[in-house]
Amino acid sequence: KNIAILMGGYSSEFEISLKSGNVVYQNLDRSRYNPYRVHIFRDKWVYVDDSGAEFPIDRNDFSTQKDGHKITFDAVFNAIHGTPGEDGLLQSYFQLLEIPHNTCDAYQSALTFNKRDLLSVLKPYGIKCAESYYLNKGDHIDTEAIVSKVGLPCFVKPNKSGSSFGISKVKSADELPIAIEVAYKEDNEIIIERFLDGREVSVGVINYQGEVIVLPITEIISENDFFDYEAKYLGKSQEITPAQLPDAIAEKVRQTAKRAYEVLQMKGFSRSEFIIVNDEPFMLEMNTVPGLTAESLIPQQAQIAGISLEELFTNSIELSLK
Ligand code: DAL
Ligand code: MG
Repeated sequence: KNIAILMGGYSSEFEISLKSGNVVYQNLDRSRYNPYRVHIFRDKWVYVDDSGAEFPIDRNDFSTQKDGHKITFDAVFNAIHGTPGEDGLLQSYFQLLEIPHNTCDAYQSALTFNKRDLLSVLKPYGIKCAESYYLNKGDHIDTEAIVSKVGLPCFVKPNKSGSSFGISKVKSADELPIAIEVAYKEDNEIIIERFLDGREVSVGVINYQGEVIVLPITEIISENDFFDYEAKYLGKSQEITPAQLPDAIAEKVRQTAKRAYEVLQMKGFSRSEFIIVNDEPFMLEMNTVPGLTAESLIPQQAQIAGISLEELFTNSIELSLK
């Protein structure tokens, strides 16, 4: 079966996605699947062969042509972080074309990619999150109201983005306008959150061989002020898997992550982030196209659970084809 591995995307995360996608390309079981690398950029959608030659994708049916032969795809492995791979746009497109893909459905993608909406949907289920303040582009910035709601320090984040692009930790009210401006470069909505002083953990919940499983928890200890881009990708953090947490707290994290996956009727990969304060996990966000390089968290967690990269990726495609 022909599998298109999608990578790139329209957001600041495109380089991370190229890395994730290439790792998937190298690790899919080739005795069962023929992987094709497909680059999705704003200005071009192309199939890229092993020599680096590019062949345009026909967006009407998501096919391509090489040497006079039409190539169609039986399924899509989506490794695009951020828009249009993680926010529901491509999920809708493939749903309409009836081409199976390995991520969650369009609605779940759009919901989880929107931090504000995700957390407000999960709150009635007892899943805790930080006190927050929202802004849309053009709104009056009332720094006094912000500080009185969320306190200081606080985090200013683009509402829809990933890899910590556009996020600042703000320590005084006069830093707020610049942090807000930086966040607006990534998204026209902003979420400003109370600083949660606790241990940060990340946990994958995936469907593996038809069953929802929780992967080992990772604790993140950043050398920087928070788990920013440099801490994530340039080695400025320690990632400890499995996290050394008291059993009862680890169990609470696992159950919370699994509950979120189940109530949202997720499919495919998810990786949720929490800060543990006074033995309670507070959810920061959920990623549905998490980083997939060998050093990324889900692959590390899977490996510790005895699941190799090949098994992780091949299982994901296999489930999408069911
Ligand atoms: N957004 C990045 C790729 C992650 O969640 O791993
Ligand atoms: Mg994220």
